[in-house]
Parts: sequence; C-alpha cells; structure tokens
Amino acid sequence: MNFEVNIQRVTAILVSFLCLAYRSVADDEYEGLYTVTVEHSFNSGPEPVFSRRGVVAVRSLKSGYGEFLQDAPLTDDEISQLKTLATSNGIYRIRVAKGSDRDIPTNYVYSFMKACALYESRLSDKLTLHVDLSGNLIAASLSTVLPYCSGDVRLANHDLTQFNTTVDVEQMVAGPAPETQAYIQKLEQEKIEKAKGQQADNRGFFAKYWMYIVPALIFVMMSQSLSQNAAAQGGAE
Ligand SMILES: *[C@@H]1O[C@H](CO)[C@@H](O)[C@H](O)[C@H]1NC(C)=O
Repeated sequence: MNFEVNIQRVTAILVSFLCLAYRSVADDEYEGLYTVTVEHSFNSGPEPVFSRRGVVAVRSLKSGYGEFLQDAPLTDDEISQLKTLATSNGIYRIRVAKGSDRDIPTNYVYSFMKACALYESRLSDKLTLHVDLSGNLIAASLSTVLPYCSGDVRLANHDLTQFNTTVDVEQMVAGPAPETQAYIQKLEQEKIEKAKGQQADNRGFFAKYWMYIVPALIFVMMSQSLSQNAAAQGGAE
C-alpha cells in the first residue's frame, strides 16, 4: 500500500519534470511567426482617424527580422491628404497592435513623424518595433532616412503609392537583475516554509507531541515500578 503510494508520487514528480523540461525547450525554440497591424492617420487634429496601412510579419524575434506588407496602394485621396499635411507642417501618425490584441485600445503603441519627411522620402520609412521577452509590443518608432525637409520637393501621385518600409524588431534583453534573484529566493524560501508547515500538519498527534508524551510515560512507568518495589520490599519485611 505504502509502496504503491510512493510509486505514484515518484511518477507524478517525473511527469511534471518532463513537462517543465519540454516547456523550456519549446520556449527556447520559439521563433513563431506573428503579425502586427499598422494603421495610419493623415489628420493632424487631436482626434486622428486611423485606417489600415498594412501588416508587419515578424519572422523571428531573435534575428529582429520583420517585413512590411502594404494592404493596398495609397488612394489619390490619401495622397492629397498627405500633401496637404506635408505643406502645413503636420504630423503623420501610426499606431500598431499585435494581431490578437487589436480589440483593446490600450494595446496600441503609437509613433509619429513630420509628414513632409514621409512625403519627400517618397514614402520610405523605417519602423522599429520594440518587444519584450515574450514578444509583447512595448513601443514603436517611426523615422525616415531624410535628415530634414527641404520643402521644395515636388512629386507626382504615382511616386507616392507604395511604402518602402524597413522593419526592425528589437527585443528587450534581460540584464543581470538582483531584484529578480531576490524575488526567486523569496519564492523558494516561501516554498520551503510551506512544505515544512504541511509536514507539521500531516504529522500525527504522537509525532507532534512525543517530547511531552515520552517523559510522561517514563515518569508513570518509573513511579509504578518504584511503588511496586516499595510494595515488594514492604511485603518482604
Ligand atoms: C527605399 O528605402 C531605402 C532606405 O531605407 C532607400 O535606400 C531606397 O532608395 C528606397 N527605395 C525607393 C524606391 O525609394
């Protein structure tokens, strides 16, 4: 009976170890393809209206490689909005969210730049996505190759239909963190204390109080044998 219970325990422990090992291997090898949606706005006002610009396919977090895929060429309407924005020194805004996170507005990260820079560079921009260790978006930053806007670039609409976007994915790297270490130690300490507490609870009445029971028993036995001896001696005399 006891032996069987032990076997069961050992098996359970082994299985959970295997699961843990499998999970950490899986995490290490995670190179999962995921997409983020990029939306943009050509209104300069306080309430920008966003429309879809395209998606970024992140092939690998570790190599930092991502690719921008534009949904559709910019329409004439959008191009004229961009031109207006560029001449009025307005800002061009984007917002980005991971594919599955788009329903929650707080999951978006935002970035913006001068519309004239986008215009004069012929829609050539660089999008940097900053992600944490598990791939969650932390920040996005949009920039262009142009160092400044000259203001005297004139482009036809057909020069302004396709984005030429370079994507960079930067994953946060965890440095040495004493707080984490301390926290893990604290967790382990708590685990040990918990285990001790459970052991104490599981022990029987005798196991808990043997240090009181044993002397009491010895005392009782001694006093009994003493009184028997006394009785025997009394009988002999
Ligand atoms: C696309 O952008 C790169 C820089 O990011 C630039 O060197 C290249 O000339 C651009 N291509 C076009 C067609 O604008």
